Amino acid sequence: MSQVSFDEPSRTFLLTTPASSYALRIGADDSPRHVHWGAPLTLGQAAALPTHDGVTSSFASTGGEELAVEGGARFGVPSLLVRYADGSRGIEWVHEAHEIDGGRLDLMLRDRHYPLGCTLHYAVHPDSDVVERSLTLHHLGTDDEGDEPVEILRCDAASWSVPAASGVRLSHTVGEWSGETKLRRTEAPCAETVFTSRRGVSGHFGNPWVMVDAGDADEGHGEVWSMVLAWSGSWRITAQRDHTGGPFTVTGGAGHDGLAWRLQPGEIHRTPVFAGQFSRDGFGAASRGWHRYVAGHVLALPDEPRPVVYNSWEATGWDVTPQGQRALAQRAAELGVELFVVDDGWFGQRTSDRAGLGDWHPNPERFPHGLGPLVEEVRGLGMRFGLWVEPEMTNPDSDLYREHPDWVLHMPHRRRTELRNQLVLNFARPEVTEWAFTWLDRLVSEHAIDFLKWDMNRALTEAGWPGHPDGERLWTDHTRGVYGVLDRLRRAHPGLRIEGCAGGGGRADLGMLARTDQIWISDNTDADDRIAIQHGYSQVYPARTMSAWATDSPNPHTRRSTPLRYRFHVAMAGALGIGGDLSRWTAPELAEARELVALYKEIRPVVQFGEQYRLDDAVQYRAGEKVVVIAWGRDRALRLADLHGVYVDDGTGEEHYAATLLTHGLPLRLPAGDRPSTVVRLTRR
Ligand code: GLA
Repeated sequence: MSQVSFDEPSRTFLLTTPASSYALRIGADDSPRHVHWGAPLTLGQAAALPTHDGVTSSFASTGGEELAVEGGARFGVPSLLVRYADGSRGIEWVHEAHEIDGGRLDLMLRDRHYPLGCTLHYAVHPDSDVVERSLTLHHLGTDDEGDEPVEILRCDAASWSVPAASGVRLSHTVGEWSGETKLRRTEAPCAETVFTSRRGVSGHFGNPWVMVDAGDADEGHGEVWSMVLAWSGSWRITAQRDHTGGPFTVTGGAGHDGLAWRLQPGEIHRTPVFAGQFSRDGFGAASRGWHRYVAGHVLALPDEPRPVVYNSWEATGWDVTPQGQRALAQRAAELGVELFVVDDGWFGQRTSDRAGLGDWHPNPERFPHGLGPLVEEVRGLGMRFGLWVEPEMTNPDSDLYREHPDWVLHMPHRRRTELRNQLVLNFARPEVTEWAFTWLDRLVSEHAIDFLKWDMNRALTEAGWPGHPDGERLWTDHTRGVYGVLDRLRRAHPGLRIEGCAGGGGRADLGMLARTDQIWISDNTDADDRIAIQHGYSQVYPARTMSAWATDSPNPHTRRSTPLRYRFHVAMAGALGIGGDLSRWTAPELAEARELVALYKEIRPVVQFGEQYRLDDAVQYRAGEKVVVIAWGRDRALRLADLHGVYVDDGTGEEHYAATLLTHGLPLRLPAGDRPSTVVRLTRR
C-alpha cells in the first residue's frame, strides 16, 4: 500500500511504495534532512535511524539534505540558490507545516527573515516505486509593502541522496545528432559531475536522467537508484560523490548554469518533477519500473496501440508533390500501413530548408487545391493522415518573419545566429503561442488531421527578449509555451495524436511524453546503429513510445546495406513504421514487407504493452501468457528471463519448459547469411 506516514516525536516522514521506502525528517535546525531511500522500512524503523543533524564544522561532509541551500556550514551543491535585494544570500529554514493527503506530502518551509516560502512536494502511487518530487517557491511579500524581488540563481526540483557505499557508479546516456541515447556506465569520480543541456531542449547530447549503483548491478541483479527529470528545455543534474563518506547526492532541475531571474512579490514558481526510483533487481527492473510509471502516470493514452506509420521524409526529402505522395500512399496501404505522414516540404515556400518555416499553408504551386484531395485519397486507402510541423521556428525568408521580425529570440547589438537557416520564435510571448495555437487548430480542424509530427530543429542562441525586464525567464517560459500549445491542441482535438521530434531524439523526455504519444528518437534509421540508440532509450522510456522505421538499403544516412528482414525486426522492437522510398522497392521486397507488417500487428500488443527484458543481442517482451523475442547476431541458444511453466512456440508448435528457457536457452536457429534475425512467439500452455 502506498502512503505517507508521520512520526511526530522524531518529525520523521515515511513514504511507502510497493517495494521501497523513502524517509525524511525535519531536523533540529528546521531544515529537511534525508533519512532513507531503499528497501522497505516501517515508520518505527525509519524514526529510529540517525540523521547527520546540524552542520557545525568547516570540514563537514556534503549532502544529507532534502534540498541543499546556502547558509551555515554547507558546502555541497546547492539545489536552491537565492540572492536578496540587500545583497544577502542563502536560506535559514523555518518549518511551518505539512500536509499529507493519501500518497502526497507537502512540506511547507519559509526563510527565517526574508519573505520567501518553499513547499517541497512528494508523491507516491500504489502501483509504482517512483517517488515524484518537485517544489514551489512563493514570494510571501507584496508590492504594497515595498518588498523587493528575490533573485533566483538556481532552483532545482529536488535533491536525492543515495547511501555512500552504493554511490559508486553512474549510468547515463551520451549522444549526438543521429546517434542519440548511447548508454554509458562509469565510475563516479569523487567530485561534482554535471550533466546538462544549454540548448533550450533536453537535447541529443545527454538525456535528463542518471542511475546510480554500487558498481555491481547488472540487467537482472543489484540495487539501482534512478532519477529522471520531466523537463524538455535546458537542464542540469549534478551528482556529487563525497570521499569522506557522506551520501552520494544528485540534484537536478530546469535551466543551465549562469541563468538568473527574479521572483516577484506575490509570485509562485513551480518546478518540473524530478522523479526517483529505487529498484532491487538490476537495471532491467529499474527500466520496467520506469516503463510502468510512464504508462500509468505520464502518457495520456497508454493503452492505445500505436499505429504502423508511413513517413515520406527519407523517400522524398523536400520534394513533396501530391503525385509522389499518392504513389507512396498506395504502396504503403498495400503493406498494411495505418497512418500516412507527409513530412517537411508541404507548406509555404518550403522547397528546401532555406525558406518557408512559419508560413503554415499548403504550398500553392505544389498543392493548388490545398491538402484536401490528398487527405481524401489517403483516407480512401484506409489510412489515417498526418503532417509534419515545426511551430517554434521561422526561416528569415518567410512571410512570417518579414511581418514579425521581433517575434524571434534576439538580443540588441548581437547577430541573429541562423542554424539550419532558421531562427527560434519566442514561445514565452503570449502573442506567439496564440498565433501558433490558432494556425495549428485551423490546420487540424480543416482536414481533421489525425497526427502531427512536432519537430524542433535547432538550439536556442541569443536567447533574449528585448524590452522584457527579466528576459532570462524565457529559458523556462519557452518550454512552458510549447507545453501550453500542445496541451491546448490536445484538449481541442481529442482525436489528434502527436509525435515529438527535435532533429530526431533531441527532445525525448517525460515532459514531452506527457503531451505526445510517441517520440522520433533518431534521424538515424540504420538498423545496426539503431540497436544501441534503442537500447539507451529503453533504459527509461517504454517501447510503445519509440517510433522506429524500416527504411531503404543502403541506408541514406550511413550507406550501409542490410537485409530487409533485419531492418524490420529491429524496428519492430518499438512502434513500427516504414520510411523508405517504396517506389523503388521490388515486388519480392514489398511482399516480404507486407508479411512483416502483418507479423508486427500480431506481436504489437506484447511489444507495446508487455514488460521488456533486454537480453544479449535480443529483446524479450512478456504480456500475460504471451512472449515475443526479437533476436539478432550469431546463432545460439538464447537464455530468456522471468518465465514460469511451459511455453509453446506459436510458429513451430514446439514445447519448452520455462526452467530450460531460463538456463539452457531458446535455440534461435538463425539462418546463415548477413545479419540473421528472428521473431519468436511463445504462448504459455
Ligand atoms: C528533422 C527530423 C526529420 C525530418 C526533418 C525534416 O531532421 O528529425 O525526421 O522531419 O527534420 O526537415
